[in-house]
Amino acid sequence: ASGRPWRWQLSVQRLSLALLVVQNSVLVMVMHYSRNNPTGGQPRYQASTAVMLVEVIKLLASLMLAAHDTFTSHPDAPTSTITLHLCHSIFSPDSWKLIVPAALYTLQNSLVYTAISNLDTVTFQVTYQLKILTTVLFSILLLHRSISLRQWLSLVLLTLGVALVQVSDRAIISENWLEQLASVIRGGSMPTSNASKGLMAVVGASLTSGLTCVYFEKLVKLSMASVSLWTRNVQLSLFSLFPALFIGVLWQDGSSIARDGFFAGYNPVVWLTIVLQALGGLIVAVCIAYADNVAKNFAASLSIVVSYAATALIFRTTMPLHATVGAATVIAATYLFNSRPTHRPVLPMSEDGP
Ligand code: C5P
Repeated sequence: ASGRPWRWQLSVQRLSLALLVVQNSVLVMVMHYSRNNPTGGQPRYQASTAVMLVEVIKLLASLMLAAHDTFTSHPDAPTSTITLHLCHSIFSPDSWKLIVPAALYTLQNSLVYTAISNLDTVTFQVTYQLKILTTVLFSILLLHRSISLRQWLSLVLLTLGVALVQVSDRAIISENWLEQLASVIRGGSMPTSNASKGLMAVVGASLTSGLTCVYFEKLVKLSMASVSLWTRNVQLSLFSLFPALFIGVLWQDGSSIARDGFFAGYNPVVWLTIVLQALGGLIVAVCIAYADNVAKNFAASLSIVVSYAATALIFRTTMPLHATVGAATVIAATYLFNSRPTHRPVLPMSEDGP
């Protein structure tokens, strides 16, 4: 991808950020619903099985994209040579470096499930904004990125803006939207939740999010000319499968999975959550490679505003003043952060760049 024209890379950057806004807007609501909707007497699905399936889907998709990249860059080479080339790059000597983000992402994904299962959407979303700050801190530490005073101010504004939207969101999502959906399904009960466990999980997820995304960004950008993004993603998913299977499925939830089955509690909403999460992982990978983690987090914050406005529109509720102020603050913060020429998303530039 590093040999692509600069304009092409810029389009991918913008498209991936826009897609992330849409994907993120839908995921949190679907995921929360999939964990907390009445189950009609069935056991709730095990988060570890979902985390593992997400990795399997991402592995297959990344493998296909990596194969496509290799085939298009060597159109005349025989299939066997290309397959060999692909295997060599996947199992290259430096692939072990992906063990760290693989382990951390698995931990993060499990923490997110624990948090969403134990907190309402609002508290989860507000607290998870901590990752905006952890990402910037790790970007400074690991990528030696400099952040101006104006950008720090915009980050604080962003966090405040999202919090404002979220706090007023409670009325719509928790008490109205979820109950409306829940009332459609008869005869179930809401699983119990533990708020302090959820809060610890979300703080842990914020820390691992910042560290892992920045580590992955550094790794991908340093080697993009020799190892493609999708090959890196195949390596990441391969290493993620081990902890997802052995720690999550077998060790953590082994006994209940043996008793109820791997797919116990699965329904179309659960499958939708899994597919959306896998898709999100792929989009995040593109955002990290073609934009950067700070831009990725801005996209995620914008998605909160988008999902809020969408929910208000769908259920014909008016947006209260503080939500409107919050939304405007998020948009202003995004503008403020990006209007500075010192922060340019680090593109894997090609020679024909500007
Ligand atoms: O919340 P945050 O933006 O840190 O979440 C990143 C998500 O993207 C994680 O769920 C992680 O598993 C996923 N991801 C991925 N592939 C990458 C990078 C991140 O699936 N290459």
